[in-house]
Amino acid sequence: LNYLVPAKRKEILEILVNGLKRMEYRGYDSAGVGFEGTNTKNGSHELKTIKQKGKVARLEEEIAQTTDLDFEKEFDTHIGIAHTRWATHGEPSPTNSHPQRSDPSNEFLVCHNGIITNYKDLKSFLITKGMVFESETDTEVIVKLVKHISDKHKDSAISFRELVELTVQQLEGAFSLVFMSSKFPGECVSTRRGSPLVIGVKSKAKLSTDHIPILYSKDHRGLMNPALHHTDSTTEFHPIGNKEVEYFFASDASAIIEHTNQVIFLEDDDVAAVQNGCLTIHRIKRTLDESATREVTTIKMEIQQIMKGSYSSFMQKEIFEQPESVVNTMRGRVNFETNQVVLGGIKDFMTEIRRCRRLLFIACGTSFHSAVATRQLMEELTELPVMVELASDFLDRQTPVFRDDVCFFISQSGETADTLMALRYCKQRGALIVGITNTVGSSICRESHCGVHINAGPEIGVASTKAYTSQFISLVMFALVMCEDRISMQDRRTEIIQGLKNLPSQIKAVLETDEHVNTLARELYQQKSLLVMGRGYNYATCLEGALKIKELTYMHSEGILAGELKHGPLALVDKAMPVMMVVTRDKVYPKCMNALQQVKARHGRPVLLCTKGDTETQKYAYNYVEVPQTVDCLQGVLTVIPMQLLSFHIAVLRGYDVDCPRNLAKSVTVE
Ligand code: G6P
Repeated sequence: LNYLVPAKRKEILEILVNGLKRMEYRGYDSAGVGFEGTNTKNGSHELKTIKQKGKVARLEEEIAQTTDLDFEKEFDTHIGIAHTRWATHGEPSPTNSHPQRSDPSNEFLVCHNGIITNYKDLKSFLITKGMVFESETDTEVIVKLVKHISDKHKDSAISFRELVELTVQQLEGAFSLVFMSSKFPGECVSTRRGSPLVIGVKSKAKLSTDHIPILYSKDHRGLMNPALHHTDSTTEFHPIGNKEVEYFFASDASAIIEHTNQVIFLEDDDVAAVQNGCLTIHRIKRTLDESATREVTTIKMEIQQIMKGSYSSFMQKEIFEQPESVVNTMRGRVNFETNQVVLGGIKDFMTEIRRCRRLLFIACGTSFHSAVATRQLMEELTELPVMVELASDFLDRQTPVFRDDVCFFISQSGETADTLMALRYCKQRGALIVGITNTVGSSICRESHCGVHINAGPEIGVASTKAYTSQFISLVMFALVMCEDRISMQDRRTEIIQGLKNLPSQIKAVLETDEHVNTLARELYQQKSLLVMGRGYNYATCLEGALKIKELTYMHSEGILAGELKHGPLALVDKAMPVMMVVTRDKVYPKCMNALQQVKARHGRPVLLCTKGDTETQKYAYNYVEVPQTVDCLQGVLTVIPMQLLSFHIAVLRGYDVDCPRNLAKSVTVE
């Protein structure tokens, strides 16, 4: 929203569409924009939407083809909202895209990120009130409900923000919402519950404060708690802003970082309103232990960091960034001279963590695999029971959690709904909550007691790569901190820390296999299936490798624990079935060789991921990719990279969109 400089409609649309492009990496199947402006000359006020199925580029084409709008028309206040949608209710289509509207005259428009679980009840209710629904979305009930409440209050001077407050009180589920209305020109109201929302503030002048006091609204049932400060004034009290300030509301800072790095992260149930160029943040009521301000923070994210550079896709760039991203994960934390490891974000909690009875690692997808990859080392160095859990299953089972448990939530985005819900579940039961995320200010970060930022830099490719290796290393660093005082473990610690030191150059060496992996991809890309086998420290590489293949190439792929081979998977093996096997020189090497022999005996043609120079093993291979040898527990960082490259090349050969695989999203903020 901008108040000072009159802008042409086409400029407003450009900002919105660019913002959507920055969010493309989150995964989506349709997009739309809604915009308004008060005409500089005649004061007329209009609200329009343009929506399209597919990529943002298609929306751009649609905008370009729109003939009934004057794109040169200038507005002095201008508000626009835009959205990329990932279908949960209703197929991808222009009608189901956002903004959703209250009625054909666009009296209210809304964009929604999340899911409304009670939408069926609300829809039936609104239908009885005469509302006519046009989409199959859960979102449409929100905007119809605002209109319904607004119509009910048409004789009172209810504000836009109050209307939104009354509306969201009826909603169940997860949402971040942004509203605009033809009834309230130049105003915008936004709120969240369970889905992320950040406000960017762009101002030439220094802001009057970096702590915005919350305004506690009148309880709409007329109840007020006299012990707490209440004010209902949005016109007399302006904590920040004036007509020279521009505001950007987004689910993710990458959409707005090119405009400003000054941001405010909203909390659940905050309602932010912009009116007359001023931003206010409201809550219905105050609970005694909550903060009464929201801070304006400066985020450090360079725009170049989120651009592709010379690579063909973000995923390829992120794979090749790993020699640097792992250094960033360790920077300032691992001292290779003194063998000390310090994790600043958890150091004050270490006494409590060391005293715990059990460690739980809870995550989804690739993040889950990073916990599988480090479980054995965690058990070895902490001598504690370690549980590794998929968040959805953990919740389904209503797993018992105790006050003396320490629960880790690993998430690249920090917003994954299942992981976040598991976090809240464990927090309620009194466990200590540790967040391991790549996204500063994300919900998981903010709701954890302490944590570790993996510092891998923004990851844009939907299929996670560099976040995995950085999560892996973060967990290894944690295990090292846990045993720093154990004399019996000092040799092992030193060995691992020196192993960490050499990892960046070894990752570079693995990346040099790229051309060779590409030839392998050419042999495999027309296959239907690929089995990936291994055990011990490399089991996680099999799971993660198979996940990458599935996500990107849409081939069937399975990560198989070699120890389970004869309990079923061996039946799949014949001379036609492509098999990859991870066989490196560690304690389970003889057992892996055994599995290799079994595959050979069924005329399988195994492609090996093996230790560099291991000619003895290579004799049995149909083909192989070599990785340098490192400490057994770190080997998985190196063996996963050829799998990332392989899935990338197969996807390219098959002609698929590597950064946005079909049906998948980067940040899964719904259950
Ligand atoms: C989605 C992504 C995966 C990711 C998983 C967990 O499924 O497509 O790449 O591993 O979510 O995401 P998180 O952000 O919690 O690590």
